[in-house]
Amino acid sequence: MATKVIAPARAISGGIVVPGDKSISHRLAILAALADGTSELHNYSPATDCQSTLECLRRLGVQVKSRGKSRKRLDDSDDLFSTPPVEIRGAGLGGWRKPARALDAANSGTTMRLLAGALAGQRFSSKLTGDASLRRRPMRRVIEPLERMGARIRARDGGFAPLEITGAELHPTEYTLPVASAQVKSAILLAGLFTPGTTVVIEPVRTRDHTEIAIAEFGASVRRTGNRIEVTPAARLLGHALLVPGDISSAIFLIAAALILPGSNLLLLNIGLNPTRSAVLDFLVQMGATVRVAQIYQRYGELVGNLEVDSHAAQPLRGGKIAGADVARMIDELPMLAALGPYTEEGIEIRGAGELRVKESDRIAVLAENLRRMGARVEEFPDGMRVAGHAETGGAGPRGADVDPRGDHRLAMALAVAALGATGPTTIRGAECVAVSYPAFFDDLEAVVQR
Ligand code: S3P
Repeated sequence: MATKVIAPARAISGGIVVPGDKSISHRLAILAALADGTSELHNYSPATDCQSTLECLRRLGVQVKSRGKSRKRLDDSDDLFSTPPVEIRGAGLGGWRKPARALDAANSGTTMRLLAGALAGQRFSSKLTGDASLRRRPMRRVIEPLERMGARIRARDGGFAPLEITGAELHPTEYTLPVASAQVKSAILLAGLFTPGTTVVIEPVRTRDHTEIAIAEFGASVRRTGNRIEVTPAARLLGHALLVPGDISSAIFLIAAALILPGSNLLLLNIGLNPTRSAVLDFLVQMGATVRVAQIYQRYGELVGNLEVDSHAAQPLRGGKIAGADVARMIDELPMLAALGPYTEEGIEIRGAGELRVKESDRIAVLAENLRRMGARVEEFPDGMRVAGHAETGGAGPRGADVDPRGDHRLAMALAVAALGATGPTTIRGAECVAVSYPAFFDDLEAVVQR
């Protein structure tokens, strides 16, 4: 297991092209594989999670061509169409083949839950498995609605992967999600493409709507009224060229680094700014951060823009509380926000976020333990945590420590950023896990760090 040592830094300066959005990449790949014709997915995410989705699609007989991991640099031009796309020759809605072996989603919850929805409508049975972390994560939440639509799904202990999915002629349903989950919503909407009518999903709070946008881009009909989403299938989906915007959930780590190191200036190009994902920027601005959005435009239904973070004239971040509907809107950014706590006046409090305990790790417990190792004052709750700011700790900032994110990519990156402002070096165990969402994270960070 690779350890990574992060030395304290003075500032961040420069520009980065962060990888393509992980959530959007999964969705476009799956829909392209269900479509007729070839789709070119530009700026597809290099995250190992998104490669797992491509690998599963190959095992389902779909032709997928991806030409290595070419990386864009800022000076290449800001045209995201300039790198080779992932090419997927769609097999059509009923054209996937029974896989010879189990489909391995590895660490990717999105791969497993979204594919479960698409596999529920196929005329064969298949098995979905994953790594030790994914096999511990709750799957009952997708099994229940998909069985209601007519699929049969066998799961370990009734609710965990491996899942054995026997596809069927599905029928439409109207389903109210018991938990706010874009993955579960997406699984149902994808299954809805295999029914003869209109499938309805009602969400308790609004979650990321990339599936709705992508389904419409591929030619089926999607309607939203409040928190109610209706999908009506098309006879066939139409493959074409699409673009994946930069991942705001990856960008957040660089943004946070620029905020905790005064005198920083950071430029991030072509970041996805879908309002169901960009709430974290509003939260940072409310805390006193200067984040500018320039050149906002729309591509294939998604908002995209350039971001500039400037902490030259910055006051210390104020801190704040995240609860209610904001939790779902910032779910993947919460680890980084919690780790910002010691760099704020009043600290960061997160409540109503029990979902964090069933992510790639128990993010509340693992973060609390590691932030404490770095000298932070942390209170842990069943549904969240509170990380004290300097008003409470008397200005004593974090110190370097030996930390273990337990293989959780977002925790490894959050701790690496917290380490930049600490006194003394921090050693991160198993740091290679960042590849799950952001393989070049440490290289990108080094490229903009000033020491
Ligand atoms: C995702 C949805 C969220 C998020 C995950 C990606 C998606 O999970 O945490 O990283 O792509 O739909 P839930 O839908 O389970 O909350």
